Amino acid sequence: MASPIITIATMKGGSGKSTVAGCLAVHWHLSGRNPIIVDADPQRSLARMAVREKALGGVHLVEDPSEEVGSTAQRLSRSMGPVIIDTPGFRSQSTLACIGVTDFVLVPVKPSPFDVDRMLDTLNVLINGVSGRRPTFRCLLTQTTRDSVIAKHIRAELADAGFPVLNSELINRVIYAEAALWGATPSLLDQKGPAAREIAAIADEVDDILGVSQAAVA
Ligand SMILES: Nc1ncnc2c1ncn2[C@@H]1O[C@H](COP(=O)(O)OP(=O)(O)OP(=O)(O)O)[C@@H](O)[C@H]1O
Ligand SMILES: [Mg+2]
Repeated sequence: MASPIITIATMKGGSGKSTVAGCLAVHWHLSGRNPIIVDADPQRSLARMAVREKALGGVHLVEDPSEEVGSTAQRLSRSMGPVIIDTPGFRSQSTLACIGVTDFVLVPVKPSPFDVDRMLDTLNVLINGVSGRRPTFRCLLTQTTRDSVIAKHIRAELADAGFPVLNSELINRVIYAEAALWGATPSLLDQKGPAAREIAAIADEVDDILGVSQAAVA
C-alpha cells in the first residue's frame, strides 16, 4: 500500500512551509518511520539544509521543482513514507501538481491579517479542487506567541469561515533558526524540549487525520 503524501503549501512566502516540512520529516524519522522530503521549491531551502552538518538527521530528500513532481511523489510513496513535499511560496504549476496527487495539505499561516489574506488564495485553490480532487487540508498557525490575542482571533476567524485549523501551533522559538544553522530541527537538538513536543503534537494530529494509528507505527 502506498504511504501518505503530505503537501505543505501556501502562496504566501515566509509562512514556515520549509520549517514545518523539515520538522515533521525529522520527527517521523526519529520515531522509526521512513519519511522522505520532496523539495519542490527552486529556492532549495531544505536541500541546502541537507548538506549542512546535521543533514536533517539523515532524512532522505529528493529535489524536483518540475511539473512532474506529482508523479515523483507517487512513485516514492510506493516504497517510502510519509512523503512530505515542500512547495514554493508563490503560485506555481508544480504546487498544483502536488495538490493533484496529495492525501493531505497543510497550510501554514502566521497570525496576521496580511498573511491570512494572501493565504486565502491558496485555500480557494484547495476548495475548488485541482484535477477534480479536493484534498483534505488544515491550516496551521506558525510563529505564534503563546496565548496571544491575535492568534486566538485569527483562529476563530478561520474556523468561522469554515477553514479547519490544527489545535497545535508552531510557536515562535529561536531554536528553529539556531537548529537550521546546523541543518537540524529542534527534535534533533533537544528531543524532549518544548519545540520538539509541539512538533510531535502537530505530527500526531496529522497522523490522526490520515488515520495512521500510533500503535501501528510504534
Ligand atoms: N516557529 C518558528 N519560530 C521561529 N522562527 C520560525 C518559526 N517558523 C519559521 N521560522 C523562521 O521564519 C522564516 C521563514 O520560515 P520558512 O523558510 O520555513 O518559510 P517558507 O514558507 O518556507 O518560506 P518561502 O515561502 O520563502 O519558502 C525562517 O527564517 C524560519 O527560521
Ligand atoms: Mg520554503
